[in-house]
Amino acid sequence: MAALAVSISERSVVLGEHVIPGRWLRDHGDDIDSRNPDSKQRLTDTFGIDPQIAPAAVHIDGAWLSVDWSDGVRTGHDLDRLLAVASSRRSLWPRAGAGFTLPAGVDLWDSPAEATWFDFGVLDDDAAWTEALDHLRRFGWAAFDGAELGEEPTVRLAERIGYPRASIFGTVWNMNSGSFEHQDSAYESFALDVHTDGTYSHDGPGTIVFAQQLKTGEGGDSVLVDGFAAARDFQAQNPEAADLLTRYAVTAHYVEPGVHLVAERPPLRVDEHGTLVQVSFNNYDRSPVLPDEGLVDDVIDAYNGFRAVFNDVSRALVHPWQPGRVLVFDNWRCFHGRTGFSGERQFKGCYTNHEDLEGAYRVAGLI
Ligand SMILES: [Fe+2]
Repeated sequence: MAALAVSISERSVVLGEHVIPGRWLRDHGDDIDSRNPDSKQRLTDTFGIDPQIAPAAVHIDGAWLSVDWSDGVRTGHDLDRLLAVASSRRSLWPRAGAGFTLPAGVDLWDSPAEATWFDFGVLDDDAAWTEALDHLRRFGWAAFDGAELGEEPTVRLAERIGYPRASIFGTVWNMNSGSFEHQDSAYESFALDVHTDGTYSHDGPGTIVFAQQLKTGEGGDSVLVDGFAAARDFQAQNPEAADLLTRYAVTAHYVEPGVHLVAERPPLRVDEHGTLVQVSFNNYDRSPVLPDEGLVDDVIDAYNGFRAVFNDVSRALVHPWQPGRVLVFDNWRCFHGRTGFSGERQFKGCYTNHEDLEGAYRVAGLI
């Protein structure tokens, strides 16, 4: 690479012709403390970065840029990658109207009561199943107890909705602590921030089914948050920022040997009528994209602001697990996460498509 001039200007790093705001650059290191070198999942605490963060020193060594920051952290950046990102900055998607309305007929929840459980036997009874399906439609989730162990109950539940959807994880997958079958944070034991799955898929999974098989030790509860209720509240609090999140696409990726998926969509996706149809947010899988000049603070403030709303623990519905319990939820509406845990934790799980979920509602006369 030809010698590239690098300097500091106020709170930005100037790299050749590119002025890169420090607040953005601090969040997008390529060093091993910032990004998992195998999965490329992000490790940086995006939401803890001081908006006033500033570079204190910059240094280029070959194809690597090192930045010392005012918070005492040093980040490293692959120059080729950074220059590519800086050369293709992102603007807002044009669309008619502003903001969004919520879909009709759903019950938004923001200070949840305890989880309620249907007996898994309702799958054998059309009327009882319709009641469980209506719960899923209204609240975005349904929980069951009393399922047999093994793959069959997961398949049966998926087939009550549509069919298990094959993905890079397989059709019905095992998610076992410590197995590291895939290079994904889902297989680790630390607490997982609430997120949606498949931000790297153009057609993110419609539902997620989890069925617990084994549990030893403590913790590892599932946490659900109503993303539509959070979006409504965010819009009430900051309509301009909520509108921006309907028009700014976030890119995400999934990388493992032989796999490299990339997709993008706004965190708040609306249909042509301005109705919110899908929330998407997974900070672990987010790819580096630099917003247009003049848009950087607005994008970061909107992204962080929405996260602050939906990440509020008072919104979290906690599902404690035990073998035989099964949870299905709408991945286009609910964020899910997990508390940290000790011991072993084993699940069967699968995805279904969202059009199949909607189809099940129609067939049951629920919409
Ligand atoms: Fe997940």
